[in-house]
Amino acid sequence: MGFYPETLDELMSSRRSIRQYKNKPVPGELVLELLEAARMSPSASNSQPWLFKVITDDYIKNCVAKSLYNQLFAATAPIQIICCADVRNYLDDGIAGARELERSGAADSQVVEVVIARNKQQRDLAESDNSLYENYSLRIAVNVAVAVNNIQLAAHNRGLGSCWPNALGDKQISQIFGWNRDIYPVAVLAIGYPAENPEPRSRKSIEEIVI
Ligand SMILES: Cc1cc2nc3c(=O)[nH]c(=O)nc-3n(C[C@H](O)[C@H](O)[C@H](O)COP(=O)(O)O)c2cc1C
Repeated sequence: MGFYPETLDELMSSRRSIRQYKNKPVPGELVLELLEAARMSPSASNSQPWLFKVITDDYIKNCVAKSLYNQLFAATAPIQIICCADVRNYLDDGIAGARELERSGAADSQVVEVVIARNKQQRDLAESDNSLYENYSLRIAVNVAVAVNNIQLAAHNRGLGSCWPNALGDKQISQIFGWNRDIYPVAVLAIGYPAENPEPRSRKSIEEIVI
């Protein structure tokens, strides 16, 4: 609190998961800046397969928090951003993106053809089998996770705290909003001005994570 990171390295190392928030609204322009940070994230074939729902309504926030296996602290945040995979448009957007990468010389045409064929095959299989559709959705979700990270860093850079309570009942969340399987909830971010200043959480050493 009161500490403003000056470099990206400082930003990354000083971010903490924040679970207590001040009772102070997050201005709309800051929310737009967070969405802008998400929008600029990298994605497979530049498919940008993400959709975001910003929640400020107390009742809905509470319903969402309950579907996070009752992690009710998430309801106390002034905003929640539900970050979803745009399953329906992933393939078409991915094909368009891959073609664009090919045209600009950033991707080899052989690789592009393989990626498109693989995605088409996976989607076709998934269409007829709900559990495969979930697997397909999960594969797309990795892109959303990148955007989530960008939002968390952008939030911290603006003095906001956030937490990603990922113990998530995606089906319950879809039910709240009436979404079908084409919108796959990946993450809920609870965001607000921090009312706590946690110590850094431990991290594995470089030696432990290099193989
Ligand atoms: C994929 C993911 C799932 C997480 N799930 C939860 C969760 O269900 N509840 C929670 O309070 N925090 C959750 N967190 C936050 C982690 O507990 C936190 O990032 C970790 O303990 C390191 O602490 P730090 O973020 O303050 O560095 C999650 C974080 C990630 C990236």
